[in-house]
Amino acid sequence: MITVEHLTKKYGKKVAVDDLSFTLRPGAVTGFLGPNGSGKSTTMRCMLGLDQPTSGNVLFDGKPYREMKAPLCEVGALLDGKAFHPGRTARQHLRIIAAGNGISRKRVDEVLEMTGIASAAKKKLKGFSLGMGQRLGIASALLGDPKVLMFDEPVNGLDPDGVRWVRELARSFAAEGRTVFISSHLMSEMSVTADDLVIIGKGKLIAQGPISAFTQSRAHTSVKVEGPNPTQILQAIAQAGYEPEFRQPAEGYPQGWIEIRGAQRSEIGKLLYARNLEIHELSESHSSLEDVFMELTENSMDYRVAGNTEKNGNTPETGNGTAAEGTR
Ligand SMILES: Nc1ncnc2c1ncn2[C@@H]1O[C@H](COP(=O)(O)OP(=O)(O)O)[C@@H](O)[C@H]1O
Ligand SMILES: [Mg+2]
Repeated sequence: MITVEHLTKKYGKKVAVDDLSFTLRPGAVTGFLGPNGSGKSTTMRCMLGLDQPTSGNVLFDGKPYREMKAPLCEVGALLDGKAFHPGRTARQHLRIIAAGNGISRKRVDEVLEMTGIASAAKKKLKGFSLGMGQRLGIASALLGDPKVLMFDEPVNGLDPDGVRWVRELARSFAAEGRTVFISSHLMSEMSVTADDLVIIGKGKLIAQGPISAFTQSRAHTSVKVEGPNPTQILQAIAQAGYEPEFRQPAEGYPQGWIEIRGAQRSEIGKLLYARNLEIHELSESHSSLEDVFMELTENSMDYRVAGNTEKNGNTPETGNGTAAEGTR
């Protein structure tokens, strides 16, 4: 278990990470999501002792990173904007890290294989593409066969095959019981990779929880009803205390249809049945993770599309540690 407790990092007056707390469990991929500039890289650097937090603690199974005897064998990290010596080859680069950490040369060749860059082992790093650089960064994270993997925006610069490869790698490490923490500003990628999510905006926690909590939360469901007598249907639902909304006729719905947000199909079905009302469609949909993410981070973006700044007082609470529902 990794615990981040009240982590704050200030650069002068700029608060990059603001009283951030969350936990990461082994055997799961946790996606660390937030818009650009929200403090993901800073948080990861603080977790790894590469940046000194202004306040707060980060503990890996109860101990701070700096107290680890062989950190590379406990935590493997791929960070944003890593620097490579351009004149070295991939193998030399990894051998230097290995040698400094008591790791065998055999392991260097293993990780070159695992990351699909064995054929480029003798190539100088200045000739590496962004994608190959990411693979090399992952190779160095894997050198110590660590129980914890932290990847900062690992799919940046990767082609679709590379993206799928990172996803499968992350999933397989979690399946082995390791703790995997991956940052991204793209919800679409995390929705297919992560089990849990930690979402931040402007350095603050917006929500954390299993991915299912974000889409299956009542706040993000919507029921659609269609029938020959929309007025009666609308009335019956409103009388039961819901807030149905009439949707104008559209293709396939010549009389329009009715949407009830935050309701469940079974409840609406039951009440319409009790009123003897004929219906032709009753369905339930869940917001996509992308929608939920946009909604959650809307108030924490530095730049927004004009006219979209004051949306229905939907200010996320911070730091309550619960999933999507906790943001109401
Ligand atoms: N070394 C630094 N000095 C000053 N400001 C920084 C530094 N590193 C990051 N920041 C600022 O902190 C905020 C968070 O940055 P960062 O952690 O890189 O966000 P993310 O990784 O989510 O894009 C940004 O506003 C960034 O400009
Ligand atoms: Mg970053």
